[in-house]
Amino acid sequence: MTSLFNQLFGKRDGATASSDGALVGNSGGEVKIEYTSETITTAVLEQMAATSNPRLKTIMAAAVKHLHAFAREVNLTPSEWIKGIEFVTRVGQMSSPARQEVILLSDTLGLSTLVNTMHDKTAVEEATQTSLLGPFFREDAPAMKAGEQIAKRDASQEIVLYGRVTNKRGEPLAYAQVGVWQTATDGRYDMQVDETTMDCRGVFQTDANGDYLIRAVRPLGYYIPMDGPVGDMIKAQNRHGMRPAHIHFLISAVGYREMVTALYLADDDHLTDDVVFGAHGDLVVAIEENAPACPVPNARSIKFDFALSVESEADRLSGRVGADPSKIAGVQS
Ligand SMILES: [Fe+2]
Repeated sequence: MTSLFNQLFGKRDGATASSDGALVGNSGGEVKIEYTSETITTAVLEQMAATSNPRLKTIMAAAVKHLHAFAREVNLTPSEWIKGIEFVTRVGQMSSPARQEVILLSDTLGLSTLVNTMHDKTAVEEATQTSLLGPFFREDAPAMKAGEQIAKRDASQEIVLYGRVTNKRGEPLAYAQVGVWQTATDGRYDMQVDETTMDCRGVFQTDANGDYLIRAVRPLGYYIPMDGPVGDMIKAQNRHGMRPAHIHFLISAVGYREMVTALYLADDDHLTDDVVFGAHGDLVVAIEENAPACPVPNARSIKFDFALSVESEADRLSGRVGADPSKIAGVQS
């Protein structure tokens, strides 16, 4: 104990370690503990070492090491530290059942895509590429029949979404759930208009052949919410804050890994500089005019087939990267 204590805090000139490890000065009695910019990290890790949950212990130890290393690297000043405290406070205060500023922060810092990418690598087999769930998902979207229009307010600029959900071998998955959500034609999600009305979202089912058919509208690219602390950060970094036009999907079938993904419109200017790093090459699609294979004649349409990976035991525990804002613990209505 004594040597560890000396190693952690160093010995002051003229000081000796007492039998219980505390440092005492020459005058005796007064305990003098000194933390340096290096030993503080070890001291915190020591104090957290008794954490009983091994995964929590690993995560928190790494978080402390990297947090301290970050502060040392930039030589963080007190005023910068308090600005960081204010920023994090505002991010929490801005979050509500209809707006998740913390997810937005994670998205714009690339953390969500990083977690998503690592999660993809754990799939049992290769499947359709995933993308971000984003901050505008809702758990309780309405169930809809094949071919129903998801846009209630403005169904002009209709596009038809169709294709097949299969497993990795291309075998159709009958009665799979296909959740879809997107902006309305004005570029806003329903929850940005008001918190109670559902629009431009629904949950469909594939038929016996694994085929899905959805009527939607052309989504618009949009600015992420810029009136909060994340928006302030984006502006300070001279980033545009735009997402390319896209349609979100959440697809699930019994025995298969849940798929969170999105399709991005090929003619959007911001495919390569998506502010939340969600757009991927394999998920970029073009709107076709009068496609012969489209089940709706003379329509503008997007065809996309989704392949799911079989589900592993770990998949059942890992959860998804994102959540309905109203279902996140700690959110105040
Ligand atoms: Fe989105």
